[in-house]
Amino acid sequence: MQDKTIAKLLKSEKTHVEVTVRGWVRSFRSNRFIALNDGSTIKTLQCVVDFENFSEELLKKVNVGAAIEVKGTLVESQGQGQNIEIQVSKLTILGEANPEDVKLTILSPKKHSLETLREQAHLRIRTNTFGAVMRTRSKLAFAVHQYFQKNGFNYMHSPIITGSDAEGAGEMFRVTALDARNPPLDEKGNVNFKEDFFEKEANLTVSGQLEAETYAMALGKVYTFGPTFRAENSNTSRHLAEFWMIEPEVAFNDLDANMDLAEDFIKYVINYALENCADDIEFLENRLLEEDKTKPQAERSEMKLREKLHFILENNFKRVSYTEAIDILKNSAPNKKKKFKYIIEDWGADLQSEHERFLVEKHFKTPVILFDYPANIKSFYMRLNDDGKTVRAMDVLFPGIGEIVGGSQREERYDVLLEKMKTMNIDKEELYWYLDLRKFGTAVHSGFGLGFERLVQFTTGMSNIRDVIPYPRTPGNAEF
Ligand code: 4AD
Ligand code: MG
Repeated sequence: MQDKTIAKLLKSEKTHVEVTVRGWVRSFRSNRFIALNDGSTIKTLQCVVDFENFSEELLKKVNVGAAIEVKGTLVESQGQGQNIEIQVSKLTILGEANPEDVKLTILSPKKHSLETLREQAHLRIRTNTFGAVMRTRSKLAFAVHQYFQKNGFNYMHSPIITGSDAEGAGEMFRVTALDARNPPLDEKGNVNFKEDFFEKEANLTVSGQLEAETYAMALGKVYTFGPTFRAENSNTSRHLAEFWMIEPEVAFNDLDANMDLAEDFIKYVINYALENCADDIEFLENRLLEEDKTKPQAERSEMKLREKLHFILENNFKRVSYTEAIDILKNSAPNKKKKFKYIIEDWGADLQSEHERFLVEKHFKTPVILFDYPANIKSFYMRLNDDGKTVRAMDVLFPGIGEIVGGSQREERYDVLLEKMKTMNIDKEELYWYLDLRKFGTAVHSGFGLGFERLVQFTTGMSNIRDVIPYPRTPGNAEF
């Protein structure tokens, strides 16, 4: 029979049964109480040893960080803080951890900053904070699949290596098998990618959208959920060079249906986390309260973590056009008092995260969906409105995060798309297959991309995106 996890044992009602557990020592008090964690829950199992029954030599090895196995009887606990504990009859050290070495790491039992934890990302997962975040991340990923599968979507694996730049923003990592020191050159002296592995230029995907569109135009409803890569030099708390994106794409959906889908989907996954990660989210909420105490009053959050999550579930996302948003921003106090780093002067300005956060956190105080953006600040594939200057784009903005979703209704008209590609210098030979969709049974369709790490950030209350992905890749950092 499989051994039970600590999560299961702590929920079991049956005591006076023999059990075996394995895990890592979190603490060992009074030569008697081992707090054991096996990663299945934030909670530890108290393992009580009678030191008379065990050799001193063995007990000396019960150190923080060591892997051990205990066998014993599950009994009701007399002590505070737990209902049950194990009365240990057999103790085995599986893997030692030398206290002198442990002292030099973040495993040592004292407070370590998130920055220090980041430097030891291979060990930080042993802390309560990272255990809670990564278990929640895992549950959220499951909820994503559950939502789409329940609603008749097909999971599509979009390619990781592609020849096209889906966003047309040129922020790509090149994939090559050429010798960087001595690449083959063409007649003009440029690198000759015809001699490269794919016999053309290739890169890591920035988005699976364009390929997802081809699948939506056959399967109807599809979604991707995979890694995407951006070589943008943004050293912020919300940007990664490698992040996971979820991209649903739906045939016959217009922008309104796209907004409905985004809102319903986000509410579903957040609710799933609240219901299935209760202990972890409670821990993270308390962690945030502690962190807030170290901050000046003005920077403290107005709501506790769970309040914030319920707030999302219980409120409609406010839908606001870009044009309305610009009016609000232009007349806002921080704009007039020149408190924004980028002052909003005219219609057409690109919104920065300070503006997005003002709208969400100060003005509307609810999640906001901005739509109908100026065509020239958005990607080539978005559907042009009849006004000729705005496109059917939408961004979902969240408190503390800013943009969590970016999406649009796609341009389904061949001529309009071709014209747009010309003006935006998108190679039509390269994207002939994308144009083909508009030749063979074209239809209204829409989709969006949700940055999975931003969702995890919001759900766990972690302020830096580097702390919600196991091994963050950012400019200057690809350690581990
Ligand atoms: O707004 P973006 O660039 O949209 C697209 O890529 C579209 N192709 C999506 C679609 O319509 N299918 O990115 C979508 C989302 C953003 O809203 C943000 O949450 C996240 O992806 N994102 C990032 N997350 C972490 N690090 C980065 N560097 C990110 N860039 C975008
Ligand atoms: Mg965007």
